[in-house]
Amino acid sequence: MEKENKMEKIVSLCKRRGFVFPGSEIYGGLSGTWDYGIYGAQLAHNIKDLWWEYFVKKQEDVFGITSATLMSEAVWKASGHLDGFADPMIECKKCHHRFRTDQLENKNKCPDCNGELGEEKVFNLLLPVNLGSVEGNSSTAYLRGEIAQGMFVNFKNILNTSNLKIPFGLAQIGKAYRNEIAPRDFLFRVREFDLMEFEYFVRENEWENYFERWRKEMWSWIDKVGIDKNMVHELEVFAEDRAHYSKRTVDFEFDYPFGRKELYGLAYRTDYDLRKHSAESGTDMSYLDEETKEKFIPHVIEPTFGHGRTLLAVLLSAYSEDEMNGEKREFLRLKPEIAPVKVAVFPLLKNKPELVKKAQEIYEKLRKEFYMVKFDDNGNIGKRYRRQDEIGTPCCITVDFETIEKGEGVTVRDRDTGKQERISEDDLLSYLKEKMI
Ligand code: GAP
Repeated sequence: MEKENKMEKIVSLCKRRGFVFPGSEIYGGLSGTWDYGIYGAQLAHNIKDLWWEYFVKKQEDVFGITSATLMSEAVWKASGHLDGFADPMIECKKCHHRFRTDQLENKNKCPDCNGELGEEKVFNLLLPVNLGSVEGNSSTAYLRGEIAQGMFVNFKNILNTSNLKIPFGLAQIGKAYRNEIAPRDFLFRVREFDLMEFEYFVRENEWENYFERWRKEMWSWIDKVGIDKNMVHELEVFAEDRAHYSKRTVDFEFDYPFGRKELYGLAYRTDYDLRKHSAESGTDMSYLDEETKEKFIPHVIEPTFGHGRTLLAVLLSAYSEDEMNGEKREFLRLKPEIAPVKVAVFPLLKNKPELVKKAQEIYEKLRKEFYMVKFDDNGNIGKRYRRQDEIGTPCCITVDFETIEKGEGVTVRDRDTGKQERISEDDLLSYLKEKMI
């Protein structure tokens, strides 16, 4: 499959099947924003739930918080984002389109209209918001450019309200906003996106051990969520390319159809943020070891996971085409854990009440167990299978005459192979549970 073609097919499938729509579409769209439909929202939530389970609930030493997405200007002054969170930008003198200089092959000619390009300028990515009725600096806040600052500014609150001992992590999932110069490539570069991230607080002399621990866990996550490991590559980021707060960064890059680019990041942020917030706010951000009476500002390892890029990498890993019963088929090999619909139940024929009744009975029973179950009696059975294949439903169950007349159970069709097995009604639940793990 051609790379550009694959991207187009995925964007089209997302639109057609209700995963992702352009933001504010009926008014011509708002660049860099996307809305999630019924299946997209469910898939997005399943990914977040899986991440939370893996990195928060299952880890003894990582704890979740939720902080506000609007944050004081003082936070971003202290964190260095007001000065350092910027991309170099060039504007075309003719069509006035703007480009990131680092992404231009020819820095003299506009790629859209061949016009002359202007002077390079530095463009801050933070999105300011004027609060209240008074305009001016005193009421300017910022939509958070990274969610990490929520963990840092609350560090003292958490210490004061828990008995946590270093090392420990603070995690959150939530929105970040960046005034990207040139949003592009579907969910890859947008202006509003979710991040899944944690700050892991350590003693300075232990940072390398924990960097290694989380590097390995990031690979396990990549596999768990269903991203093709062969398409992911580590990149040791050179000092000149690292964020202002980082002493070491490893990027996890993914082979997108538009090139090998960042998926996730793992950074050693030193004690940069807590030290800056201590100095600027006057709140002492140091940690006291009650046993040794040692007092110090903790250092930080930060694994960060863009949620939209996860979803895109999952879709690119799962998207498949084959031929089945003489027809071309598109399907998503999603891991059952994240599939938006777990099982679909069909009566073979819509106009046979006994089949419909039995299928509904089975549907109700399965819903109690899996919740995300779909009942479908619309169109012929082949079309119903195709619809579920395209949204990545792992199993389809059909109730036919043998179910009713001979009590011979139902057929269960596997999404990836198309093979059907006849399973007795008594065994159905345990059979499906095993498949869903
Ligand atoms: N707290 C660290 C931090 O925010 P970052 O590399 O600036 O680091 C984290 O961003 C992750 O957010 C990236 O690894 C990427 O997955 C995602 N990301 C960054 N900018 C994005 C954008 N404009 N659109 C979508 N995802 C983005």
